[in-house]
Amino acid sequence: MKIIKIILLGSLFVLIILIAIRTVQGEPKTSLKAGEELYVWYCIPCHGLAGDGKGFNAKNLDPRPANHTDGGFMKKRTDKELLDAVSGGGKAVGKSTLMPPWGNTFTETQMKSLVLYLRKLCRCVGE
Ligand code: HEC
Repeated sequence: MKIIKIILLGSLFVLIILIAIRTVQGEPKTSLKAGEELYVWYCIPCHGLAGDGKGFNAKNLDPRPANHTDGGFMKKRTDKELLDAVSGGGKAVGKSTLMPPWGNTFTETQMKSLVLYLRKLCRCVGE
């Protein structure tokens, strides 16, 4: 009987520690890795795995999806503008509504992670 009590108390203790760690860590941080994972899952049908705008669905779209590897094009957007385009879709930045809004799908942190990944794809910074 004593051993069961020890096991139960032990598990309770571990649980409390885990909850405490989770609370201290809070919201997960913006990360390039998270951005890449989201991009590969949600953006490549249109923008392509390489980010060059040649996803398998691209040929059905007019205008064609943006080429995120095009530094000349991407550097003309600030991080804020990219975030607005991801959050509110093409419409939010005066572009085509074929670019969907993601603001109700992702958290702010996830969208900032996507912007980090966009900057990796274009190897550029906003001017
Ligand atoms: C259904 C197809 C589709 C999907 C899915 C899609 N996009 Fe787009 N995206 C487009 C199209 C089309 C454009 C070009 C709009 C234009 O030029 O008017 C575009 C343009 C953009 C632009 C450039 C906006 C600008 O300022 O010119 C960004 C940034 C972008 N997409 C990011 C993303 C991200 C990040 C994802 C995934 C979360 C994503 N897109 C998913 C179709 C898509």
